[in-house]
Amino acid sequence: MSNEVNTGESTVSRETSQTATNKPTNKPVIGTRRLKEPMPRPIKTRLFTVANQKGGVGKTTSTVNIAAALAMGGLKVLVIDLDPQGNACTALGVDRDGEGMYELLVEEKPLSTIIQKVAGFPHLECAPANQELANAEISMVNMVARESILKFALNDYLKEREAAGDRLDYVIIDCPPSLGLLTINALTAADEVLVPIQCEYYSLEGISLLVSTLSKVQRALNSTVHISTILLTMFDSRTRLANDVANDVRAHFPRELIDIPIPRAVRVSEAPSFRQTVMTYDASSPGAVAYMQVAREIAQRGSSATPHEPDEPDEPDEPNEAGAITA
Ligand SMILES: Nc1ncnc2c1ncn2[C@@H]1O[C@H](COP(=O)(O)OP(=O)(O)O)[C@@H](O)[C@H]1O
Ligand SMILES: [Mg+2]
Repeated sequence: MSNEVNTGESTVSRETSQTATNKPTNKPVIGTRRLKEPMPRPIKTRLFTVANQKGGVGKTTSTVNIAAALAMGGLKVLVIDLDPQGNACTALGVDRDGEGMYELLVEEKPLSTIIQKVAGFPHLECAPANQELANAEISMVNMVARESILKFALNDYLKEREAAGDRLDYVIIDCPPSLGLLTINALTAADEVLVPIQCEYYSLEGISLLVSTLSKVQRALNSTVHISTILLTMFDSRTRLANDVANDVRAHFPRELIDIPIPRAVRVSEAPSFRQTVMTYDASSPGAVAYMQVAREIAQRGSSATPHEPDEPDEPDEPNEAGAITA
């Protein structure tokens, strides 16, 4: 029997050369094509934290690409960049020079005052990790209820949006590679945790640390939060190790795992240098196709309401799942 992981669709585990019709684009994105089939809305706003205390496992990449894919599916999505490195902002082309998560956490500025729209996406917005965020953990040490600052700010904003008849469908929080106060704030604010796992040695050992931190948060701060979603990232089906890790994850987390591994793919890693997600940079590349499938699976698992009415009456003209319209 083959060791390859079945992605459920065409093989997405290997990089292919770009096709003539879908070149990667380094031009500014001014719009995105709507998907033929919109994604289902959740009953209430789903609050995700993307966490794994290991760096370089695909937290930021998964955050921005799943968020972009959900937004392309017609859903209203907010990305909160809680990593002082600000890589999610970079991939979304969001400015980090103004006020951002530092002012929200330390000066208690409302979320509505720091949010920026992501260019090209009608329904995607971002709360930026500004440069000062690197000092936030130290500044927060003596604050009252310091673990719950994000939760209260987010709840206020969600209520505001709902009262205005403009409810968000997804909030996705990108965490730094640590289990410090920023990540604790994210776990306290969320209902669901998405854990990206890179298929290599010790991947699962890393998860046990996260699980023990999570159980402390559950006990003291937020009884709702749980690991709902696990994603295999930078997957190379040719290696035995990747398949072994995938099998382990499948055995430990059969319900949580989304069994659509994200292939290790050059376009995915190139996209941020053009301040883009791979969803617009090269929509037909294997990484983008996989993230689109993952986003649809996430939406389907949490669905039950009807999709948003489309903004424009016209039908999309392309058969492929997604794509960028550039200047
Ligand atoms: N599927 C992928 N294929 C190729 N490179 C990837 C893939 N996913 C992530 N990367 C690259 O790996 C590095 C780490 O990913 P990142 O999402 O920043 O991890 P984290 O946020 O967990 O630190 C980045 O340079 C990113 O571009
Ligand atoms: Mg990151």
